[in-house]
Amino acid sequence: MIWLSFLAYSFGLAVLLALRGARPPLSAAVGPSAGAAMKVRRVLIVGSTGGTGRQLVARALERGYEVTALARNPAALAMEHPQLTVVRGDVLDRASLDAAVHGQDAVVSALGHKQFYRPTRIQSAGTANLLAVMAGHGVRRFVCETSLGLGDSAGRLGLLFTLFVIPVILPFYFWDKARQERIISESAAHWTIVRPGTLTNGPRRGRYRHGRVGNLLWGGWIARADVADFMLNQLESDTYLKAAPGICS
Ligand SMILES: NC(=O)c1ccc[n+]([C@@H]2O[C@H](COP(=O)([O-])OP(=O)(O)OC[C@H]3O[C@@H](n4cnc5c(N)ncnc54)[C@H](OP(=O)(O)O)[C@@H]3O)[C@@H](O)[C@H]2O)c1
Repeated sequence: MIWLSFLAYSFGLAVLLALRGARPPLSAAVGPSAGAAMKVRRVLIVGSTGGTGRQLVARALERGYEVTALARNPAALAMEHPQLTVVRGDVLDRASLDAAVHGQDAVVSALGHKQFYRPTRIQSAGTANLLAVMAGHGVRRFVCETSLGLGDSAGRLGLLFTLFVIPVILPFYFWDKARQERIISESAAHWTIVRPGTLTNGPRRGRYRHGRVGNLLWGGWIARADVADFMLNQLESDTYLKAAPGICS
């Protein structure tokens, strides 16, 4: 009986995450000035001190962008480059985002945290703040990392995640991620949500699958370096404008 209740809870949560995640519009047309039509030169990276964020900073610099890294503790980034500016800021403090967003062509976010065991709004409220400041500065292009397991990718992190990791360890975290996705998809930004499978710190392979990936049995993996590569590719492409592709190796 307990097992049946647990299964009902796990499947019910997966259904709610499916319903609450991003809702891409039926038609993704957003006009001729969107996405790739606009040349991106200056990019703000949010979550720059994290696993994916560091890869984003390094790869964006390799690609020749002028990079601004938002960090709660700038010293933690420990990276120097003539094209890199580090700005202290916290996504929960809207006023601290102004200086970082001003003058950018695009914002790329790998925001995350480890406060798993209590309800939080860090990702949803932080992203809402970011989108509001972007709108205020006329910055429209937004690429944001979330996760497989949300919206139309519910269940695609595999059985272990669907039946154990998400319902037992990460229910609050995923609930807030679903809220974050919905806020993005209902915004006026030119957004792309990138949903990776389980992240690794492996080397960049440069070969990965994207779109409808992952599977109901064992999910999928992807190196943070490849996720960063794919996220930056979106700045030069309209393929996934107002869409939420998954990515797995
Ligand atoms: N781990 C996985 O297998 C997996 C799978 C799929 C998707 N994802 C998602 O992928 C994303 C990136 O994961 P990751 O493990 O590469 O990143 P991470 O190491 O968890 O880094 C998260 C980043 O967000 C920053 N951050 C947290 N709260 C902030 C705030 N209030 N203001 C500004 N910055 C803040 C952190 O800054 P501090 O250094 O100051 O803390 C850090 O730079 C996350 O959304 C994660 O949920 C993870």
